[in-house]
Amino acid sequence: MPITRVGIIGTGVMGSDHARILASCVAGAELAGVFDVDQARAVSLAEETGARVFDGATALIADQGIDAIIVCSPDATHSELALACIAAGKPALVEKPLASTVAGAVDVMKAETTGGRRLIQVGFTRRFDPGYIAMKEALASDRLGQALFLHCIHRNAVGPDYLTSELVIASSAGHEFDITRFLLEDEIVSATVASPRASRLAPNRQPQFILLETASGVIVDIEVFVDCIYGYDVRAELVCEKGTVSLNTSPATMLRHAGYDGFETPPDWRDRFKHAYRQQLQGWIDAIHGMPNHGASTWDGYRSMKVTEACLAACRSGQKTAVPVEEMPTFYR
Ligand SMILES: NC(=O)c1ccc[n+]([C@@H]2O[C@H](COP(=O)([O-])OP(=O)(O)OC[C@H]3O[C@@H](n4cnc5c(N)ncnc54)[C@H](O)[C@@H]3O)[C@@H](O)[C@H]2O)c1
Repeated sequence: MPITRVGIIGTGVMGSDHARILASCVAGAELAGVFDVDQARAVSLAEETGARVFDGATALIADQGIDAIIVCSPDATHSELALACIAAGKPALVEKPLASTVAGAVDVMKAETTGGRRLIQVGFTRRFDPGYIAMKEALASDRLGQALFLHCIHRNAVGPDYLTSELVIASSAGHEFDITRFLLEDEIVSATVASPRASRLAPNRQPQFILLETASGVIVDIEVFVDCIYGYDVRAELVCEKGTVSLNTSPATMLRHAGYDGFETPPDWRDRFKHAYRQQLQGWIDAIHGMPNHGASTWDGYRSMKVTEACLAACRSGQKTAVPVEEMPTFYR
């Protein structure tokens, strides 16, 4: 089996998680290099995994000992690093969002199309979650009839300090935009946003409630509340003509002890989506080795940014905002 030598840019929460998954349970790959602007973080991960520490993203991408790159630095760096990977002809798994502006996503799409090779996969991990995959299969089986509503909830225990009300839409809600398109195989055509008052426990940002319409007439509502305190909680229910299908939020076991009857809620997304993160990385490596790629493409990253942009406009204006529909370029079919 060929071995792909992977370099990781950004060794914070996600970069370290990807590194540990790569080192422990992905076939056909090895972690070969790491870079972080905070060198101590990169060194610490390198000591744990045996990877080489680079002193810049450009050096890591260009190095002959690196075959593929995972971009886990902050959102604003993604499109520039994706462009550098395309220029070097190397595949990259770029954490979501693909870019922090629609223009940035367009630049990546243009570069990839001009280069003539699909090199970028966007880290929309939920496409690899067994629950969402089962929901998609239930809809496709036609037992339930057509979809009418999709209800989504995205709650984090405590968001990072840098997250503003707008970033709750631009960064956190992106997962919901992508999973809507993935589940329904439909494009989002309009967005409306309502913001309740801020929680007194997180006064610097508001939760967001997003209402989307799809081209075929499905209504999607999304609550994004990144300071719910009690834990990480992601839910989805698809309501169809003849029934519903939803994510099962409870794990395989329940606990009854000392007046408690229920299950623990994980503190963050790494535990809830651990299977999906493994499948995503294995799928990405398999695709580099010639298998079909089931991950989100640059087109998916671009469409998600279009929805983000419409939501931000809707949030500022208080008005329903259109998301212009475009035909998917042949290159991405
Ligand atoms: N797919 C998912 O489920 C998921 C979940 C959480 C976060 N994310 C995305 O992953 C990315 C990283 O998030 P995180 O939670 O790991 O953040 P983090 O703050 O824990 O880590 C980011 C790291 O990037 C480093 N960094 C900053 N600027 C850099 C640069 N120019 N070059 C190289 N390194 C740089 C920082 O020093 C830090 O170590 C974000 O884009 C976020 O939106 C994805």
